[in-house]
Amino acid sequence: MKCSIPIHAVLALILALPLGYAATKDDWRGKGIYQLITDRFAPPTPNAYCNPQDRVYCGGTWATVESQLDYVQSLGFDAIWISPAAKNIEGQTVYGEAYHGYWTVDPTQLNQHFGSADDLKALSSACHSRGMYLMVDIAINALASTQYVMTDAALATDGGGDLLFKKAGDYHPSCSINWGNHTSEQQCWLAQSGVALMDLNQGVNEVSQGLINSIKSFCQEYSVDGLRIDASKHMPVGFNHDLCDSAGVFCIGEVAGTDIGYAGSYQGPQAMDSVFSFGLMYACVNTFTHGYDFGSLQYAMSTSAKSYYDSTLVGSFIDSQDLPRLFSLTTDKTLAYSAIVFTFMQGGIPIIYYGTEQEISFGSADPDNRNALWQYNNFATSSGAYSLIKKLNTIRKNLGPSFTGSIATVKAVQTSSIAIQRAGTLTVLTNKGSSYSGTWKIASAFSANQQVIDLLSCKAVYADSSGALTVTWTSGQAWVYVNTTLALKAGVCSLGGTETVS
Ligand SMILES: *[C@@H]1O[C@H](CO)[C@@H](O)[C@H](O)[C@H]1NC(C)=O
Ligand SMILES: *[C@@H]1O[C@H](CO)[C@@H](O)[C@H](O)[C@H]1NC(C)=O
Repeated sequence: MKCSIPIHAVLALILALPLGYAATKDDWRGKGIYQLITDRFAPPTPNAYCNPQDRVYCGGTWATVESQLDYVQSLGFDAIWISPAAKNIEGQTVYGEAYHGYWTVDPTQLNQHFGSADDLKALSSACHSRGMYLMVDIAINALASTQYVMTDAALATDGGGDLLFKKAGDYHPSCSINWGNHTSEQQCWLAQSGVALMDLNQGVNEVSQGLINSIKSFCQEYSVDGLRIDASKHMPVGFNHDLCDSAGVFCIGEVAGTDIGYAGSYQGPQAMDSVFSFGLMYACVNTFTHGYDFGSLQYAMSTSAKSYYDSTLVGSFIDSQDLPRLFSLTTDKTLAYSAIVFTFMQGGIPIIYYGTEQEISFGSADPDNRNALWQYNNFATSSGAYSLIKKLNTIRKNLGPSFTGSIATVKAVQTSSIAIQRAGTLTVLTNKGSSYSGTWKIASAFSANQQVIDLLSCKAVYADSSGALTVTWTSGQAWVYVNTTLALKAGVCSLGGTETVS
């Protein structure tokens, strides 16, 4: 009898085994992340009604997320970041329900609105069987409460019913944050009333060990590949480090604000694997949607390169659950597309917030920026942003480690345009918008008389005899130029000689 199991099937089976758990920073460097809010990504029933203004659970679950992994994967992403999975405040508060997941009461339990433990495990293995990673958001800087009388007696009764930590000494005393004073940012409360965010005192051993142990077992139980740490900035660097070290998975911390140097202090061997590029994100948004001079973007790029321990791991993003949606900031799609191109081509791990690919323009602030994706085009793949993001993910993947292991530097800059170089790519962007026509000669861009391809239009142009490249805008579009060798490798243009030579 012949052996009926082909060897490639056996290999595929072995590869599909939990390659997920304990993913390291090197495993994550080449990944692209799709950020989603579990409650708002995929519907419980077709056409389920969801009005973000109501601030209530709309019914998305870990199972519905699993049902739309094809959509995420075909967009070119190989990791998802899901909103917090831990038990939150139940019921109505003055700010609605905890559908977003940032009102943790007990990190050792799951939020049952999103399904069962088995559902979360199923999502995790579904990701792994596709070669995708699962990142889970954790919010453990504070525990949330609608009661905030900080006495042992109060915490032990009404206020403390669901809370993991029930002693007054487990928390810092209530105070309002004096922004810019980093001690105050770590010890005072992000919210003192309404839904209070009672700041945990990670200086208390029982608190830090309790949190570290619960996150470690959570990662093991659900084969989590990475953690996104909410409000990292509001906890000591050392605690962030110990938490990630013990969990043994890749961590990316939220150190919000424009101070790139301070964010940099949260990345490295004594801190976390990664942080988000808040400084560069603000500069990018200001340049492309508010008309700022490109000098400010150049400055943010050079400051970032100097400040981060490893810029190739920093989270490169444009918007999130806390920021205006990109497409709410401009009616000129070309400007939004250019900001997306910058996010992918400048360096780091690209992160796209769900809905950007559908060009959702509603959502200039919380709660409108947390709208239900399923109410926009029903997972269609026809938008310009969808194609662009897919293409950029493909380019990044195909160019491989020489690209993902490097970051861009500025080749040339003018008030309204920039040319950045990275691993053989030359990305040229302007913020003059879709009505702009004009030219820009970039010296020493390529070799003399070399043919180069723009990967976004697949059109060929030539460098002149000095190696200078003249960019010719017809509608303020973004360009990603490479030589023909890299164009073949990038795999997004068919180079059969049929392309127009402009
Ligand atoms: C910073 O905040 C801490 C904690 O609230 C406070 O004790 C300290 O006096 C503040 N420092 C300054 C310079 O204001
Ligand atoms: C194309 O660019 C890559 C990356 O810079 C380089 O290694 C390669 O030698 C170039 N090929 C040609 C034909 O210029």
